Amino acid sequence: MLAGKHVLLIIGGGIAAFKSLDLIRRLRERGATVTPVLTKAAEEFVTPLSASALAAQKVYRDLFDLTDEAEMGHIELSRAADLVVVAPATADLMAKMAGGHANDLASTLLMATDKRVLVAPAMNVRMWEHPATQRNAATLKSDGILFVGPDEGDMACGEYGPGRMSEPLVIVAAVEDALLDGPLKGKHVLVTSGPTHEPIDPVRYIANRSSGAQGTAIARSLSALGARVTFVTGPADAPPPAGVDVVKVQTAREMLEAVQNALPADAAVFAAAVADWRVTTASDSKIKKGKDGTPSLEFAENPDILATVSQMKKGRPGLVVGFAAETDDVIANATAKRKRKGCDWIVANDVSPSTGIMGGSENAVTVIEEADVEEWPRMSKSQVASRIAARISEALK
Ligand code: CTP
Repeated sequence: MLAGKHVLLIIGGGIAAFKSLDLIRRLRERGATVTPVLTKAAEEFVTPLSASALAAQKVYRDLFDLTDEAEMGHIELSRAADLVVVAPATADLMAKMAGGHANDLASTLLMATDKRVLVAPAMNVRMWEHPATQRNAATLKSDGILFVGPDEGDMACGEYGPGRMSEPLVIVAAVEDALLDGPLKGKHVLVTSGPTHEPIDPVRYIANRSSGAQGTAIARSLSALGARVTFVTGPADAPPPAGVDVVKVQTAREMLEAVQNALPADAAVFAAAVADWRVTTASDSKIKKGKDGTPSLEFAENPDILATVSQMKKGRPGLVVGFAAETDDVIANATAKRKRKGCDWIVANDVSPSTGIMGGSENAVTVIEEADVEEWPRMSKSQVASRIAARISEALK
C-alpha cells in the first residue's frame, strides 16, 4: 500500500508515455498522490489534460512558468515528494541525468531533489545497447538511482530486444520497494570506506589503490534496507551514495576521530583501506630538491581503527565487521586478523594485482566468523554489498 505517499512522476517523451497514464491510475488506486511533470517531448505523446485528469493534480510543464514558481517553486516541488519516478526514461533524459544538466523543468527537478529516484527506461533496443546509454546507466546506478527494467520484447519500432518500459504494475512494485520501510529501519550503521592520504608535505602524500567502490556499495545497500548510515570516507574515486550522512576525511587519525564521533552505532563496517603508517616527519612546507640530497622519510604507526572499536569496553557496536586485504594465505591470515583485532566478522579478499579486485568492479570474498567460514563466488561489488547488508540485517534482528 502506498497510502500517504507522494510520487513525483516525470513523464519523458517516448511512445511508452501512454503507459504512464495507467501508472498514475495504479499508483492512485494504492493510495499514493501523484504529481505529474511532462517534458516538452512527452506532450507529443500524451496531453497534459489527460495526465492532470487521471492524477487529479496540476501538471507541471515549464521551468519558467512564473505562476508555478509563485505556487510551488521547482526546489519545493522536487522535495515535497517521497520518491521521484521517471517513466518513461528516454535515452536523452538518462543522458541529461548522468551529465547533471538542468535546462528544463524535469532535469532541474532531478538535480534539485534530495529524494530517491527510480527510473523506468524505454527506448529502441539499439539505443539501449549503445555504449553511451550503457555508460549513463552505470553512472546513474553508481549515483544510487534505482532502475526498473527495461524489459525485453517486441518494440513499437518493429525490432525486438531489451528497451521496452516495464509494465505499470511492475513499476508500482518497484515504487513500493523503494518506499518500503526496510528491515534496518531505526538502526544506525557506521561504514568506513576509501583510502587514506598521509601527507609527506603540503603537496605530496602516501596513498593506496582503494577506489572506495566496495565501501560505497555497502553504505548504499544498508541505506536501501532502511538503515541510517554514517559514511566516513577517505579521498575515494567513487562518489558517496545519496541519502547517507557523509563525513570526509584525509588521514587515518582523522578517520578514527570521525568514527568515534559517529558512535554509538548498532553495527559498524570497516571497509576503508587505512594507511598503516604515516610520515612522522611530514613537512609544513614543500620539500625542495637541492643540496640536502634525497629526503628520507621516517614513519610512525597509525591507530588501528577497527581494533580500537572492536576492543571498546563501553559503547562497542553490537556487530563489528572488518575487511582483510591479503595477497598470500588469504584465509589463514584473515582468520588470524579477526582474532587479533577482535571483530565479529572479517570479510577476506585477495587483492593480488592478478585478481583485479582492488580498484576493480568485482570482488571474491570469504566471510569469516568465529565458528564459520563462508566462501562466496566472484560477483560484482554491489552484489557483495547487498549480501553483506542482508547478513547484517539478519544479525541485528
Ligand atoms: N583497519 C583500520 N585501521 C587501520 C588499519 C586497518 O581500521 N589502521 C581496518 C581496515 O579497514 C580493515 C581491517 O582493518 O577492515 C584490515 O585491514 P588490512 O589492511 O587488511 O590489515 P592491516 O591491519 O593493515 O594488517 P596488514 O597490513 O598486516 O595485513
